[in-house]
Amino acid sequence: MRRILSGILVFVCFITLHTSAAETPGPLKSFKPGELWPDTDGVHINAHGGGILVHENTYYWFGEHKTEGRRGNNAWVGVRCYSSKDLYNWKNEGVALSVVKDDPSHDITAGSIIERPKVIYNAKTGKFVMWFHLELRGKGYTAARAGVAVADKVTGPYQYLYSLRPNAGVWPENATEEDKQRGKENFLARDFKGGQMSRDMTLFVDDDGKAYHIYSAEENYTLNISLLTDDYLKPAGKYVRVFPRGHMEAPTIFKHNGLYYFIGSECTGWNPNPAHSAVAKSIWGPWKELGNPCQGKKAETTFDSQSTYVLPLMNKPDCFIFMADRWRPQNAIDGRYVWLPIEFEDNRPILRWRDEWDLSVFDSKP
Ligand code: GAL
Repeated sequence: MRRILSGILVFVCFITLHTSAAETPGPLKSFKPGELWPDTDGVHINAHGGGILVHENTYYWFGEHKTEGRRGNNAWVGVRCYSSKDLYNWKNEGVALSVVKDDPSHDITAGSIIERPKVIYNAKTGKFVMWFHLELRGKGYTAARAGVAVADKVTGPYQYLYSLRPNAGVWPENATEEDKQRGKENFLARDFKGGQMSRDMTLFVDDDGKAYHIYSAEENYTLNISLLTDDYLKPAGKYVRVFPRGHMEAPTIFKHNGLYYFIGSECTGWNPNPAHSAVAKSIWGPWKELGNPCQGKKAETTFDSQSTYVLPLMNKPDCFIFMADRWRPQNAIDGRYVWLPIEFEDNRPILRWRDEWDLSVFDSKP
């Protein structure tokens, strides 16, 4: 009897150990674009339309926090932050910027729209500066403003400063006399006084420390590249229009071999469309279009995703990850992330689908 009992005990221990080992997956070692991506607590990462800041040897991912069961993009929580050393395993660092719950008239009241947050670090002021696309509660997408928040600590809390329409009363550097004439469909001239519309956006910091705000303006017909003040808190009053009437959004900018590259999308709301790419010798242009960087099956829908950021890797010069969102507007929290390595062929960025990949793909770079 005793032998039978101890046999059962050994068997139970074996099963228990075996099951718990199977239930506690080890750290992630690869990217699986489009699949659920558990954070270090096992919860799908909630940082949509995001961007990444590299600070003190750590990656910080900021993105839109979506709420279970809610459709669309209204913000009920705010901007969430995650940290990682290896890019596969992300620790939830909590809410970096909170919506305001007790003041319905506040710009970032619960139910406003907070999209595409990006954070940069200003070495001169020692502040972390967040910019995001803001739409006021109950006003659809008509406000088209940029929101600004700052923090002393990378993970926050970020303090909301204000929102603005960039470059009020300033003509773009490359505006022609015709561009300045008011006409029925001339949105540039229409918005000259009050500031240009600012919807999908990103930030880019150049090697010389100058930072730029890149945003869809003019009813999304044109992108603006706009220099920020030295403290990164306001437009400096110098900007250019790029791809006029090009109808592009979801902008990303990165620098490779001394050239500036752009990848963005067309404007079809939540539905994916073909990506666009472009190159320029100066951030001010002229920008030369390079076509759709995606190749292979589903290239015409950017592999069912929309760009949000291009991440230059730490300690791996000239290696970049294309970050995109596979939106699920019916249950936004279930939105997926599509990350792919950027390859270069004849100085053109190229994206190819991979079911699973890891950072070793960059080791074979010439
Ligand atoms: C997309 C945009 C998203 C969100 C969405 C709303 O075009 O890139 O950030 O604004 O439209 O329909």
